[in-house]
Amino acid sequence: MSKFPTGFMWGGATAANQLEGAWNSDGKGMSVADVAKFKPNIDKKDYVSQWHTSPSDILAAKETDDEIYYPKRHGIDHYHRYEEDIALFSEMGFKCYRMSIAWTRIFPNGDETEPNEAGLAYYEKAFQTLRKYNIEPLVTLSHYEMPLHLVEAYGGWANRQVMDMFVNYSKTCIDRFNGLVKYWLTFNEIDSAFRHAFTTVGIIEENYPSKKKAEEAIYQSLHHQFVASSLVTKYLKEVSPESEMGCMVTKTMTYPETCNPEDVYLAQKDNRMNFFYTDVQVRGVYPKFVLNYWKNNEFNIAMTPDDLSVIKEYPVDFISFSYYMSIVQSIDADQREKVGGNLTTGVKNPYLSITDWGWQVDPLGLHISLIDLYDRYQKPLWIVENGLGYQDTVEEDGSIQDDYRIDYFRDHFKAIADAIADGVEVMGYTSWGCIDIVSASTSQMSKRYGFIYVDLDDYNEGTLKRTKKKSFEWYKRVIATNGEEM
Ligand code: BG6
Repeated sequence: MSKFPTGFMWGGATAANQLEGAWNSDGKGMSVADVAKFKPNIDKKDYVSQWHTSPSDILAAKETDDEIYYPKRHGIDHYHRYEEDIALFSEMGFKCYRMSIAWTRIFPNGDETEPNEAGLAYYEKAFQTLRKYNIEPLVTLSHYEMPLHLVEAYGGWANRQVMDMFVNYSKTCIDRFNGLVKYWLTFNEIDSAFRHAFTTVGIIEENYPSKKKAEEAIYQSLHHQFVASSLVTKYLKEVSPESEMGCMVTKTMTYPETCNPEDVYLAQKDNRMNFFYTDVQVRGVYPKFVLNYWKNNEFNIAMTPDDLSVIKEYPVDFISFSYYMSIVQSIDADQREKVGGNLTTGVKNPYLSITDWGWQVDPLGLHISLIDLYDRYQKPLWIVENGLGYQDTVEEDGSIQDDYRIDYFRDHFKAIADAIADGVEVMGYTSWGCIDIVSASTSQMSKRYGFIYVDLDDYNEGTLKRTKKKSFEWYKRVIATNGEEM
């Protein structure tokens, strides 16, 4: 008998800015993703530099229509091929598909009063196509693609007006897609504001007089996002009570390097910070340690009593998260080998294997994370991102034998099954980049996650032809047997 509950939502996940392309078609405005440059000479493991976009980078990007060095502008041309791609997802047996709406297709600059009909019509057709195949959409309203204009003219999310504009954009989507979309997420990896502030909250750190001032602005932005999330949840419940809203965080499991209490305390600090976001969005209150931190640093975070009541009254219905790796903290970090990854850097864990991009692979860490989250909140969990970034090889016969990816998924699926056996409520699983897309951090095509290979290289050369990898048939079997056959 399957260890996964009946109705378990197997599927895949993507984000508009990494696959749609058509960056300036049908009235779409420029988003922060459209100025993200592919930097071929940067170390694959140098996560911080990969993400960094300076004020001069933005100016240079705005002056060019180039797509080769701005790969998120072309993506995999999903905008024109979504029907073919969704048909392939259906062939794999997807029960659900996580995708995002590009804010700039609906409100090109973010501050318009009327939405762009062409953008709404595009997503309506995409959702109808999913429904035709009985695939449940799970929709992220903001996945690293805020309008660039809101950064330049308003200073990003530190400005409360941006919160109002986001709420208006979200209400527009909820109204238009009512009946087509039941499951929503507000902000992708809300915690990443401290890892790449420009992409997530539109904060350009160079524009602040000090690192502390930029940090204060990021906390202010997060406050606005928390309030926005609750206001949107409130609206969703009013107009579509059967719909559900989730939060989305990067699950960052941190281990102490040793049983030295100082290592344990360092790891606890990281884990506690990781819980900050879900504490607010699930419990509806700010944890005391964050309030104390603001006080001790003289951070003045503007908020109204109404903000706190709406956060309290409208928490999320479920918790979704991405999980790729775990990290290790040590008081002797200076003397240890470091690793990169989609988190800040940590110390190398000798028990784990590591990808070419420096991400430490840890399936048991997923099992532990599921228990940690469930025991803390007793809310249903949905793993909405997980997967292996790998440089696949196309064999002479045109096939892609990605057994390494199958092994990765099998280990992680077993970890989920074990967590379910341990009493954790898991709603579903959507693998990241179920079709090859442009990497968020490196803007490479060669960092591939998909079950479906897309013929396109890092320099926008290729036919865009879609080919099923070996893992395609394997995942299809997993879904068809609800995880019994792996
Ligand atoms: C997550 C993001 O952090 O990691 C995705 O939500 C991203 O957008 C994914 O693509 C994998 O990261 P990368 O940099 O390998 O694409």
